[in-house]
Amino acid sequence: MKEIILNHPLVTHKLSILRNKNTGTKEFREIISEISTLLCYEATKDAVLEKTIIETPLEKYETESLNEDKYAFVPILRAGMSMVDGIIKVIPNAKIGHIGLYRNEETLEPVEYYYKMPDKIENREVFVLDPMLATGGSAIATINRLKKDGVKKIKFLCIIAAPEGIKAMQEKHPDVQIYCAAIDEKLNEHAYIIPGLGDAGDRIFGTK
Ligand code: PRP
Ligand code: URA
Repeated sequence: MKEIILNHPLVTHKLSILRNKNTGTKEFREIISEISTLLCYEATKDAVLEKTIIETPLEKYETESLNEDKYAFVPILRAGMSMVDGIIKVIPNAKIGHIGLYRNEETLEPVEYYYKMPDKIENREVFVLDPMLATGGSAIATINRLKKDGVKKIKFLCIIAAPEGIKAMQEKHPDVQIYCAAIDEKLNEHAYIIPGLGDAGDRIFGTK
């Protein structure tokens, strides 16, 4: 499945602010949140609505609405947490699961330290959230775990992706649609995205 990129001058503008090393924590978080909202709009373009009858102040009206309860958002801790805010702005009644992974900086392998999903996760459409798709190791491990729990419909939403991460994801999980705001040039020797925005977790939480 071909990845979907948000192609919009305002998104490019916002990304320039995120990429700038002089941008502070507050603005960094706000922009991640704004772009996440836009990613959520894009990722729900194919949402199936349910017929419902409401009453306007003037008459009964048959319309369509989203069963928000069908959705679960799963941020990959830590950095993925920064995307939740922007996404629940548009689907506030979705459930939220958490998976904790960190990249072992020597082996670059993801190590799981936390996993807690909403009830009946297998019946929900899951959006996995992480601002960075670098080697793809964290995203692939998360999706492996969700599939082991029986989840069938999964989308992956990120801010910046590396071509290497997209390729790895498409090989391991060809059924998972990737949404991103940009695809950068490459990974460096430490598997950081170039030009990228640095360490997303550290910039969001001010840990370096
Ligand atoms: C970062 C990022 C992804 C992962 C991407 O997290 O938020 O989860 O690296 O790299 P990958 O595609 O090569 O797996 P990190 O491990 O730094 O943890 P953090 O969110 O706690 O900062
Ligand atoms: N994780 C990050 O936070 N940034 C990168 O560039 C790669 C992985």
